[in-house]
Amino acid sequence: MYVLITGVTKGIGRSLALEFINRGDKVIGVSRTEKELETIQGEFPLSFIPIRADITNEKEIDDIFIKLKNMKISVDLLINNAGVGYISNFCTLSWEKNKNIIDLNIVALTYMTHKFLKEVKGNENKGIINVSSTGACQSGGPLFATYYASKSYVKSFSNGISEELRDRKIRVMCLLPGPTKTKFNGMEKAQGFYIMEASNVAKIALRDYFRGKEICIPGVINKLLVFISNFIPRRFQLKMLKRIQNKK
Ligand SMILES: NC(=O)c1ccc[n+]([C@@H]2O[C@H](COP(=O)([O-])OP(=O)(O)OC[C@H]3O[C@@H](n4cnc5c(N)ncnc54)[C@H](OP(=O)(O)O)[C@@H]3O)[C@@H](O)[C@H]2O)c1
Repeated sequence: MYVLITGVTKGIGRSLALEFINRGDKVIGVSRTEKELETIQGEFPLSFIPIRADITNEKEIDDIFIKLKNMKISVDLLINNAGVGYISNFCTLSWEKNKNIIDLNIVALTYMTHKFLKEVKGNENKGIINVSSTGACQSGGPLFATYYASKSYVKSFSNGISEELRDRKIRVMCLLPGPTKTKFNGMEKAQGFYIMEASNVAKIALRDYFRGKEICIPGVINKLLVFISNFIPRRFQLKMLKRIQNKK
C-alpha cells in the first residue's frame, strides 16, 4: 500500500515511515528539508519516495498531488502528521508564529485531506490518520493556547469526517500522542517516566489503525491522564496546566 506522511524527516513522522516500510509498504514522505529526505531515500531506495514541500503553501500541496498523478500513484493512507507549537504567552508569541501554527496544524491538514478525498472515486478501502495531541482533551492550553486549540480542531474534524466517510469504507483515526521525545519544542531534552519514544508511539498507532480504532492515545499513562481530566474542574485544570507549562 502507498502511505503519504507529512513531516516525515523527524520524530513521530519518521518513526511512522519506518514502521510502514518494515511492513513492506511504500512511503511517500513530505517535508521541507531536502537533505534529510535524501538521507531517508538513500536508506530505503525502493520503499521511500521523497517530495520536498512546505505544506503551509497551498500551491505546494497542489504540486504534491500533481506529482502523484504523474507517477500514477494512488495513495491508500494519508497521515497528516506535520505540526508545530511554541510554548509562550499568546500575546508575546509573534503573530507570524501563531499564524504558522494555524496554517500548518489546521489549514494544511484540512487541505491535504480535501485533496486526498477528491482523488478517491467511490467506496474504496482507504484511510486517514490525523495527528492531534492529548492536549486536545484538556479544557485549553495556557501558554500553549493556539497549539492546544489547533489540536482540538484536529480531533473534532477527524471525528466529524470519520462519521461522514463510514459508508464509503474510508477509515479515519485520530492519533493523540502525549509528551514524546522528538525535536518538537525541545522535547528531546525533556525528562520523565511519562515521556514516550517516537518509535513506540508509531508502533501503537499502526497497531490501533489496523485494529480499526478511531481514536488512538498511545501509552497507559496518557490514557489515564485523559480519563482523569474529565473529572477535574476547568479552572483548576487550567491553573495546573499553566504551572506545568511555566516550568518548561
Ligand atoms: N513530540 C510531542 O511531544 C508531541 C506530543 C503531542 C503531539 N505531537 C504532534 O505530533 C506531530 C509530529 O510531531 P513531532 O514531535 O514528531 O515533531 P518534530 O520532531 O518537530 O517533526 C515535525 C516534522 O514536521 C515537518 N514540518 C514542519 N513544518 C513543515 C511544513 N511547513 N511543511 C512540511 N513539513 C513540515 C518537519 O520537517 P522539516 O523541518 O524538514 O519540514 C518534521 O519532519 C505534530 O503534529 C505534533 O503536534 C507531538
